[in-house]
Amino acid sequence: MRLAAIFAVVVALAAAPGCALDDPPEVPSWQVDVMPVLAANCVRCHGFPLNPVARNDFRLDAYSPTLLPGETIPIDGAGGPGLASQIATFTRPGFSVSLKVRMPPDRTLADREYLILRNWAGAADAVTESGPRGPGRFDNRAPTVTSFEEVARVGRKVTFAFEVSDLDHDLVSGVVIGPTLDVQMQVQPGNIGILVSGRRTFEWDTTGLPEGSYDLTARLDDGADIDGPDGEEDYIDVPVMTVVIP
Ligand code: HEC
Repeated sequence: MRLAAIFAVVVALAAAPGCALDDPPEVPSWQVDVMPVLAANCVRCHGFPLNPVARNDFRLDAYSPTLLPGETIPIDGAGGPGLASQIATFTRPGFSVSLKVRMPPDRTLADREYLILRNWAGAADAVTESGPRGPGRFDNRAPTVTSFEEVARVGRKVTFAFEVSDLDHDLVSGVVIGPTLDVQMQVQPGNIGILVSGRRTFEWDTTGLPEGSYDLTARLDDGADIDGPDGEEDYIDVPVMTVVIP
């Protein structure tokens, strides 16, 4: 009996050379490792819609930048240049810089959570300084638009209600692609609204759009790597409805 027990320990040690099961990964994946830490600790203040008290030039509930409808300068996602290292700096347990607040302001991250953020910053691209998206979950399930409908119309303003879900409970970010006017007043596909996990509404101003019926598409990102390493088209497109502008 005793020999068998020793043998079991030796086998267990041999199977895991210097690496316990819950050591943080050296190169954390955005979807699998980083996003859950930010979702649990940061997104209530740094998610969309942005909290006016916190800095409003980035959001931590999305990897990619977001171009708000009608704007020309996107706000960064967590994969924005230099943000990974800023995140790691501000969450370091001993962080202390005068007039700066350690993040999250009201508690300290668990060691493993901090180490994931630190390793992610350490794995940032040397040129873009972005933390890697990395491979997602191998058996990932795509996010879905559970419902999408027009709920009100006042003059040229149309209000939509939507629900976005994800069977893996990933945070989902996205936009609705529909008709927009470019500077020459030509109709071009562009962002008409912002999508996030859960139920919300958004308003779309159709002023100036020629009459017609237009297809709307939800463009969703659940953190998965869709187009292979280093690509920037990590989203799926889901047709949601056809809207009629009189
Ligand atoms: C309770 C709300 C709240 C939570 C939770 C929170 N933050 Fe913040 N964060 C703020 C506020 C407010 C500021 C702006 C104050 C400042 O700049 O010192 C800020 C600023 C920041 C900045 C910019 C700091 C600078 O001075 O440039 C970073 C980076 C940041 N937060 C990251 C995080 C991360 C990562 C988490 C989660 C681990 C997190 N925050 C959780 C409220 C929050």
